[in-house]
Order: sequence, then structure tokens, then C-alpha cells
Amino acid sequence: MSDQRWSNRFTFILAAIGSAVGLGNCWRFPGLVAKHGGGAFLLVYMLAMLVMGIPLLAMEIAIGRRMRGGAPKALKGIHKHGEKVGWSAVANGFIICCYYTVIFAWVIAMVFSSFNFAGMTGNTDAAGEFFIKDVAQTTGGVSFFGEGGDIPVLMLIALVVAWALVYYCIRDGAASVGKVVKYTVFIPVVLLAVLMIKGFIGNPNLGAAMHDLFVPDMSALGTPDIWIDAFGQVFYSLSVMMAIMMVYGSYLPKDSNIAVDTLIIAFGDLFISILSSIVLFSTIYSTGMASEMTTTGIATAFIVYPQAIVQFTSIGWVNAIFGVIFYLTLSTLAIDSAFSIAEGVSRALSDKFGIPQKKATISIVLVMAAISVVFITGAGIGWLDIVDNWANTFNLILIGIAECIFVGWVFKPKKVLDEVNKNTKKYKMPRWWFETSVKILSPLVLTFFFGWNLIALFKTPGGYENYPIWAQIIGGWLISALVLATGFIVAFLCKKNKKLKAMSEKAEANEKTWDEMEAINDAEGEETPVESVIEAAAQEN
Ligand code: PHE
Repeated sequence: MSDQRWSNRFTFILAAIGSAVGLGNCWRFPGLVAKHGGGAFLLVYMLAMLVMGIPLLAMEIAIGRRMRGGAPKALKGIHKHGEKVGWSAVANGFIICCYYTVIFAWVIAMVFSSFNFAGMTGNTDAAGEFFIKDVAQTTGGVSFFGEGGDIPVLMLIALVVAWALVYYCIRDGAASVGKVVKYTVFIPVVLLAVLMIKGFIGNPNLGAAMHDLFVPDMSALGTPDIWIDAFGQVFYSLSVMMAIMMVYGSYLPKDSNIAVDTLIIAFGDLFISILSSIVLFSTIYSTGMASEMTTTGIATAFIVYPQAIVQFTSIGWVNAIFGVIFYLTLSTLAIDSAFSIAEGVSRALSDKFGIPQKKATISIVLVMAAISVVFITGAGIGWLDIVDNWANTFNLILIGIAECIFVGWVFKPKKVLDEVNKNTKKYKMPRWWFETSVKILSPLVLTFFFGWNLIALFKTPGGYENYPIWAQIIGGWLISALVLATGFIVAFLCKKNKKLKAMSEKAEANEKTWDEMEAINDAEGEETPVESVIEAAAQEN
């Protein structure tokens, strides 16, 4: 059980923005804007935020606050089988955390490797190959034999640093997260501002860059892709269905204003996506590489951007400094997303088995760290690509559909909305908005995506990106099946294993229903001032 609370409202907003704002804002969003007619994508994205993103975010935060638990426990308050959906979200979060932290480690490695850009002034070929050849040392394949099994020492060190940072930030749950997000949310904004100024000064193509970014090309609206990409990006960017926002909601004091905070979080996230787009468009256009903007995330950050860096000035060390700034920005964007997802996993375990969260955190971080080594081998990027594709295009969507059905149809969405609107006076989230989204639009949109993605995959000869079929089966279908089965596996283990059974039964003895939680939450806030609860929790650990 965890009785922790955020130290104040602002801390919660920062933590949630920190989780939402991640690498997706900085490298996925700008690429999508470039691909889909600039401002046209911005418009569709905002629509997707209203239709699906904001209601689902509010829903998750509210369920977490009411039930005071991670995803499985919180969704159990909706329905007894909701717990299984929660475990799928946790399992998917576990997988995502394993490779997201590897990406974080790449970025850390690039901060320290950036001084190499000093020697590459003007040499775009060398800069473009630098990450693949020298830092990640990847073969691009999926076989671990030969070079595919090599682990670069620099990457191993970076990975250890990345996991140590993740652990450090969440070691005391809300208390330590609250301290870190004061920095990790503002530093990237400042760094992005510095990079933006750099992109603006003496840039002959600034006008073209801003035109392509903001002026809508309405013809783009006619293709289905823009809609799919916009809804997918909102979903991913707001960190919903990842077992994160319920945990963050569970740390909220009872008088928090979820309806308003959700809007702040969603628009804060959008703001950083737009700021990142301005930075990327202006820098990449300034070096005359506008046509490269359409490439996807990893390529933009690790291939295209280095090519831009070495063309910034004719003075090597100045370019290198911009490299450091850029990768430092990415690190500060990545860290609070990475630890938020680890926190979601560890909280679920501590809820279920009644273990102190610190113990759950250290154990789970060690397990995830061990698994993540796979992704820094020579075959790592191939596996990362496969696992990432299934986690996001299938698992996340299925979890989303299940969550919407449980809340919208099995439970009463009005009860969740009441929790969202509990302490709001001026602005309340309208019922028609919340219910149409949770009951109808979101599940429909998500089901459509699921079908679309499935058909697209089966229609592609050779399957996903032509990786060997065995690798697609293991990294894709098998892991997805495990993710979906996790709730059943946990239930089975708790039934068969005596020790786990005793632990889970003991933890469950204190569980309350949705309706019972109301009185408890109301009473609790009055007796225990926020500060003392956090202090008590910190001492307990
Ligand atoms: N919202 C994050 C992003 O845009 C996605 C994410 C969150 C990934 C949490 C992992 C963990 O990058």
C-alpha cells in the first residue's frame, strides 16, 4: 500500500507533463508534421486531442485518484476483470520501458560522443554514419551471431547510467519524482529555446521552414494516413494506456482539480511538440536538408540532425557544443518518460503483493536492465524496431479498447466523470464530451486502427520491414500474446504458489470498492496533511 501524495498541485502537473513530453514530441511529431502537410497535421492533431486524448487522460487520472492504485488495482475498482486489463498495460509498459531506456542510453552516449563532431566539420557523410557505426555499432539485422552479438562498451556504460538514473528518480515514488521533475521539465524547454534561436539567426530558409510547418496544406486531409498518425501520436504522446497516469493520479490529494489539470497537461505537451518542430524545421532547413524531414524518429535524431550539426559553422568545437545541447535536450526529455513507466510497473507489483515500493522498484529495475542489454547488441536496433512496432500498433490499442469498454459499458462513465469534476467549480468537463469519447468515439477509432494496422501488416510482403519471420514471431506476436495473457498468468501464480497467494490475499484484504473509496478518500485528506504523509512515506522506506 502506498499512502504517498504529491507535495502540491504543480508537482503533479509537472510530473504528468514530464511523462507525456518525451522523445515522441521531439522526433516523431515534427516528422509527422512534415509528412502530412504542415499546419494540416496540427489541426487534425488538435482535433484528436479533443476527441480522444483529453477525455482518456482525465479518465485515467480520475480512476487512479479514486482507487489509489496502479493500473491493475485501479481498474479492479471498475470491474473485477478490469484488473487483467491493468496487468496487460503494466506488461506492455514493462516492455516499452526496457527499450525506451535503451533509447535514453543512446542519447546519453551521444551527449558524450558529441565532441567528435568537432572533427567532422562539413563532412555530412561521416556525421550521418557516426551513430550507427561508432556509437550504437549496429548491424541492422536481428541475428546475434557474429557481430550481432557484440556489445559496445560505451553503450553498456551508458545503459548502466540510464538505469541508475531511472532508479534514482523513482526510488521514493512521488516524493523523489516530485523533486526531479522541477528540473527535467524546464531544462529541455530552455535548451529548445536556445536551439530555436540558433535556428533563427542567419537562416536564409527560415521563411520556407515556418511556411511548411504552420501553413496547412488542406489536400493532406484527404488521405487516411494523416488521421491515423494524428490519433496514434496523441495516444502515445499523452502516455495513456501505459499504466502511468493512474499511478500519477493515485498520488493526487483529494481536492485536486482533474478537469483543469488535464487540459494543462495536454496543452503543455502540445506546446513542447510545436516548440520542438520549430527547432527541427528551422535547423534542418537552414542546412538545406528540407527533404530529409520526412524520415522517422531515430533517423531524424541520430542521422539527419548530426548532418545538420556539422554544417552549423566552420568552427568544429562550436558545432560540437550544439551537439551536446541537442542530445542533452533529448536526455532531459526522455528521462521523465522512462521513469514514469518504470514507476507504473513497480507500483502495480507493490499494490498486488503488498511489498514496499522501494523493494519492488529495485527488483523490477534490475530485471528490466538485464533484459534491455539485448537492445544494445549489434542486433539490438532490429529487435527494438520489432518490439516497438507491436507494443504500439497492437498492444497499446487493444488495451485502450478494453479500457474504454470497461469504463464506458461495463461500468458507468458518469461515475468516473464525477470523479474528474469533483473539485471543479468554474470549469467542469461536459458529460456529452466525456461520454461520447469514452463510450463511442475512442473505442471505435481504436478498433478501426487495430484492424487497419493488422491488414496493413498482412498485406506487406515479408511482414514488418522484411525482418525474418521467426524474429517477427518472437519479438512481435509472442511478446504481444504474453502481454495480453499477463493478467491470467498473475492470477494463476497467485492461486498456485503458496507464498504469492498469501502475499496477495493479505494485500487484497484492505481493498475497497469504487463506492467505498469515496468516504475513505474524503476522510483521509482531512486527517493527514499532505506534507506529513510524504514525510511518513519517506521514513517508512
Ligand atoms: N509520451 C512519451 C513520448 O512522447 C511516450 C512514452 C511515455 C514512452 C512514457 C515511454 C514512457 O515520448
